Amino acid sequence: MRSYTLIAPAKINLYLEIIGDRPDGFHELVMILQSIDLADRIDLKASSIQDIRVYSDHPQVPSDKTNLAYRAAELMARQFPEAYAQYGGLDITIHKHIPVAAGLAGGSTNAAAVLVGIDLLWGLGLTQSELEELGATLGSDVPFCVGGGTAIATGRGEQLASLTGIDNLYLILGKYRSLAVSTPWAYKTYRQQFGSTYLRDKDSLAARAAAVHSGAMVKAIVNKNGVEIANKLHNDLEKVVLPEYPPVQKLRETFAQADILGTMMSGSGPTVFALCESQTQAEQAKQYVRTAIPDEDLELFVAKFTTKGIYVAQSGNR
Ligand code: C5P
Repeated sequence: MRSYTLIAPAKINLYLEIIGDRPDGFHELVMILQSIDLADRIDLKASSIQDIRVYSDHPQVPSDKTNLAYRAAELMARQFPEAYAQYGGLDITIHKHIPVAAGLAGGSTNAAAVLVGIDLLWGLGLTQSELEELGATLGSDVPFCVGGGTAIATGRGEQLASLTGIDNLYLILGKYRSLAVSTPWAYKTYRQQFGSTYLRDKDSLAARAAAVHSGAMVKAIVNKNGVEIANKLHNDLEKVVLPEYPPVQKLRETFAQADILGTMMSGSGPTVFALCESQTQAEQAKQYVRTAIPDEDLELFVAKFTTKGIYVAQSGNR
């Protein structure tokens, strides 16, 4: 049976601005997304049993339809019924390294890997934009995860414009194992508190997105200037998540006291990251945070920016 092993990188938000409401109930966003080399490994295997089966080595990763990777496979089976009938079922094994419900797009990147892997397994020859379009029906971050790298994301987060890839910056990530933030809760609370500031008309929304396109963060990225990137980090969702979760606020303050370039929460949290210019600086900052917060519930990772989205690590006939 043909099989593929895919690497599915996590993402962080260098920038997340909520600019308005959408008729579909989602929010209009302007984000700058960055892939990092903290990644899950996904094994995808054709199976003689005409079914989709998901396995994982992580207790918080479900095997049923609530798993976005399962839904990605189901979507492909629905879209390409002849290929599904011809090639048989699918066994998907998720080797989890990215923290779950953490604001790092762990579930989205697994789904993106399944889309890319099935395209290869069934020889469909889909383009990146076709895969992104399919991904957008599963979740707002899935399209970015397909190609990864550095990108501006607008609309729901699914409209992408690639930026110069950066791979010379390091980061530390901190996440309390027992803490999970609900993304719908974070956006709903933001709407309740800041909805009156939302831009309402199309021109204002477009102007706001254009301002980010030509703004300081994008310039810093084009110049690969780590210090400037760190100065311009921004995440509107911090305004609702940090007051509600004091340990996350404390973690962010502790990161800020370490010798780092800049710190911010990723996505809807609760992961906090700090940018560093070298691996040594990141390891030293990790040590500083570990000593300042000697709590075993706190997981700390050192990672690096990557220009890669989903990629194949291995393929074979098993
Ligand atoms: O698209 P995704 O499933 O990742 O979104 C999770 C939740 O986050 C949505 O159900 C919605 O409540 C919120 N969200 C939003 N606006 C966006 C993206 C997500 O309100 N652009």
